[in-house]
Amino acid sequence: MATLQLGPYSLVSVTPDLPVMTLAPMAGVGNAVFRLLCARLGARLLGVEFVNARNLGDGSRRTALATDFSDAAVYRVDGQAVLAAQIYGNDADLIAAGAVRLQALGAQVVDINFGCSVPRVMRKGAGGAYLRDLDRLCTAVRQTVEAVTVPVTVKTRLGWDHDSINIIEVVHRVQDAGAAAIAVHARTVCQQYQGAADWSWIGRAREAARIPVIGNGDVLGVEDARRMVRQTGCDAVMVGRAAMANPWIFAGRDQTTRRERAALAMDQAEQMAAFKGERAGVRDTRKHLALYVRDLPPRDPLRRAILTASTLAELGHLLEQWQTADPEAVLPTAGLNAATARRLAWGSPT
Ligand SMILES: Cc1cc2nc3c(=O)[nH]c(=O)nc-3n(C[C@H](O)[C@H](O)[C@H](O)COP(=O)(O)O)c2cc1C
Repeated sequence: MATLQLGPYSLVSVTPDLPVMTLAPMAGVGNAVFRLLCARLGARLLGVEFVNARNLGDGSRRTALATDFSDAAVYRVDGQAVLAAQIYGNDADLIAAGAVRLQALGAQVVDINFGCSVPRVMRKGAGGAYLRDLDRLCTAVRQTVEAVTVPVTVKTRLGWDHDSINIIEVVHRVQDAGAAAIAVHARTVCQQYQGAADWSWIGRAREAARIPVIGNGDVLGVEDARRMVRQTGCDAVMVGRAAMANPWIFAGRDQTTRRERAALAMDQAEQMAAFKGERAGVRDTRKHLALYVRDLPPRDPLRRAILTASTLAELGHLLEQWQTADPEAVLPTAGLNAATARRLAWGSPT
């Protein structure tokens, strides 16, 4: 079995032929409901929706939902997975203080975002902007490590741009600053999502590191995850967009039937309704629904109806209609196709 050792946690792959797989932090996606669903399918480290260090403790409903770590209680009991809360900010004191709050709220790991390429985040000197000033980056890591007792991890990219790739220096410096692991999205900040992720840098980071390296970028199906480990030796594979479309990837499955997808979709919508209220819950499930029913052509009236349903009753009826028409139908392609992955990246926050 593959194992990811993260401070005191030993996270073990679902089966011997699969790597340890982790759910990437994703704003607008990584809520308590989706995390638990992914954990049940085999994700071992659950990324969240990132929170701005400045917003922690602001009393808003938005921050309360983003820091609802109630699912961590389940992971604590069964011991197979852990919740990694993610924080971003432009000030080491604020990040460290925010990390203390996240730990008090139940985070089992605190992850610091040093990769976000969204202008509104970077303009303020947060996220990927840190890759241009590694002293500042290391201060934030060191202060956070000193402030909390849970493991502190770092998620970053290869460097600012192609002419300033500094991931190897980042690896050396964050491990010296006390980071327990580093997740590497194998693109530069300036690249955002353009071009292919260059996994060769994950391999070089792995060779340079004493701490675990979690590989990330363009794992669209189960075979990609295995290939990433073969090619890079990384300790775990982090999956973002493909998990939105196919959370079964964590169980080592690219293909699921309509019957399975309809059942999961309905369960997810019901849990989301309990989490956020029916209208908001159903609405927020739509980004997944659009992917679960992607075998229906874009203009298909049933697809449109599923994606505009606003109550659980309506959605349940439509999903039933969809799946009973061909319950054993599987998707034409295994995993997420590259065009759909590009569409999901477009406008994504990091
Ligand atoms: C909708 C969406 C939201 C994201 N939000 C975050 C985030 O909050 N923090 C973060 O570090 N990365 C975020 N990312 C980036 C992913 O964690 C991941 O690094 C990236 O999508 C590459 O992995 P993939 O090819 O498996 O999707 C987000 C990506 C998407 C698609």
